[in-house]
Amino acid sequence: MRPLTERGPVRLRGRTSAAWVSLAVERFDQVLVDHAHCEKKAAANALSLLQAYPEVPQLPMAMARMASEESAHLCRVLALMAERGLCLGPDLGDPYAQGLQALVRHGRDERRLDRLLVAAIIEARSCERLALLGEALPDPELRAFYRDLALSEDGHQALYFRLASGAHGEAAASARLEALLEREELLLGALPLRAAVH
Ligand SMILES: [Fe+2]
Ligand SMILES: [Fe+2]
Repeated sequence: MRPLTERGPVRLRGRTSAAWVSLAVERFDQVLVDHAHCEKKAAANALSLLQAYPEVPQLPMAMARMASEESAHLCRVLALMAERGLCLGPDLGDPYAQGLQALVRHGRDERRLDRLLVAAIIEARSCERLALLGEALPDPELRAFYRDLALSEDGHQALYFRLASGAHGEAAASARLEALLEREELLLGALPLRAAVH
C-alpha cells in the first residue's frame, strides 16, 4: 500500500526513509508507547481547538468527533500495550511536533490558520508513517491495525485543511500550507531518527 497522503490535500514533500521503517520495526515497543502519547495529544489538541475557535463553521462538531476518534485510537493503543506488558510512562515530548508548532505565527487570524494547518500536516505525516508500519510489521494483526489507523488519519488531514479553507479561504490556506510543507521537509531532515512515530 502506498502512503495514503498522496491523495492530498496535504501532499508531503519528502518521503520517510527506509532507515526509519527499520528502526521502528526493530524497536516497535518504544514506538507503540510514543504512539499512545501521540493519540493522547491529538485528542487534547482537538478539544483545545474547539475551546479556541468555536466561531469557525463546523469546527465545534468536527473537533468533538475528532477528540472522540483520537481517544478511541488511544484506547486501542493502550490495549496493545497492556497485551505486551508495556506501561505508558511520562511523555518525553515530540521534537517534530514542537518544531512545527514553533512556526505558528502570532496574531489571531494567522495563529488560527497556522494551528489548523500544522494539525493537518502532523496528521498527514502520521498517516504516512502508520501506513508504512501497516506494510512493514511482521505481525498481520498489527499490520491491519496500522492500516486502519492510517486511513483514519488520512481523513483527519483532509478535515483540518477543509476547516482552514472554510475559515480563511482556499487560496490563503493553500499558500500557507505550501510554505509550511517546505519547512516540514527541512525540519524532518534536521531531526535525528527516533524510535517514535515522528
Ligand atoms: Fe489517531
Ligand atoms: Fe488523527
